[in-house]
Amino acid sequence: MKTKILVTGGTGFIGSHTVVELQNAGYDVVIIDNLSNSDITVLDGIEKITGIRPTFGQIDLTSKLDLENFIGQHQDIKAVIHFAAFKAVGESMLKPMMYYNNNVIGMVNLIDTLINYKINKIVFSSSCTVYGEADDLPVTENSEIKKAASTYGFTKQIGEQILIDAARVGEMNAITLRYFNPAGAHPTSHIGELPIGVPNNLVPYITQTAAGIREILTVNGNDYPTPDGTNIRDYIDVVDLSLAHVIAVKRLIENKNLEMFEVFNLGTGKGSSVLEVIKSFEKVTGLKLNYKIGPRREGDVISIYSDTKKANEVLGWKANRSLDDMMLSAWNWQKKISKLN
Ligand code: WQD
Repeated sequence: MKTKILVTGGTGFIGSHTVVELQNAGYDVVIIDNLSNSDITVLDGIEKITGIRPTFGQIDLTSKLDLENFIGQHQDIKAVIHFAAFKAVGESMLKPMMYYNNNVIGMVNLIDTLINYKINKIVFSSSCTVYGEADDLPVTENSEIKKAASTYGFTKQIGEQILIDAARVGEMNAITLRYFNPAGAHPTSHIGELPIGVPNNLVPYITQTAAGIREILTVNGNDYPTPDGTNIRDYIDVVDLSLAHVIAVKRLIENKNLEMFEVFNLGTGKGSSVLEVIKSFEKVTGLKLNYKIGPRREGDVISIYSDTKKANEVLGWKANRSLDDMMLSAWNWQKKISKLN
């Protein structure tokens, strides 16, 4: 009998790639997603890669009754990976209540429901944005959690505190994974990043500009105190990131976690500026990207990248794919969905 894992937000960018790796590892995957920022056709892509179509429920975490009814039909769930959340720093500064409702109320409903059904193992999709503007780089898991620079980052800080408190009273066993900047796409190009509407994130905006969907990329500021004036981030391949989730779930199911609340940074340890990402894209594609320098974006931190020692040593996980690999897989995916040759 396969071990059943619930993946919330499983038709999303990181969620769908993680579902593939969970199925590859032999787990039975159930997805819930409200399809607010993803498309049901992602299930076809997952099935094309693994040959297994995951069980799917179109559930909004803010509808607690629907959530309780759905989980009531899957009480054999052994662990949960919680991705379902809005995740755009810039957008969160413009629509804070949308982020509080979805990311915080949704998470309270989920944790409450899981506790009621005695499902107490969860991997939480957190973010390096919980660190705010870090004083020292690279950030480690013990770096100070400063005031979040964005509403999005604050909702992730709240999410972590919910799990810390639930773990403290013995109601949850949680591993929190703090992602840096996920990028790239599955090597088969059957799944990838599929932003609905105008992309908030850099890499899909680059690929859509190169595909002619967007006229020009605006670089959000080049007057930061960095070598080339643009923001620095730690871009991590989505498949590398997904593999870390399989390791984390296994760790919980086999009770290998040392505390009831564990935190791991998931990055490469290498920082890249916006202009370096553009240069990498142009190098691997041979294309000239149309971009201009614009004003800073509210909520952006100057620079952040990770110290990956803990995940490397404790989880035995390391990111392998390079920035060039990510740019190429992201472009191959964009060409596929834009039907470019
Ligand atoms: C990166 C840089 C922008 C778009 C992301 C996720 C968040 C979290 C952390 C996982 C910034 C600049 C962007 C554009 C630009 N990851 N940019 N022009 O804000 O670091 O956050 O990683 O949880 O969920 O959103 O990523 O790609 O939005 O921005 O110049 O059109 O690219 O200003 O400096 P960010 P991003």
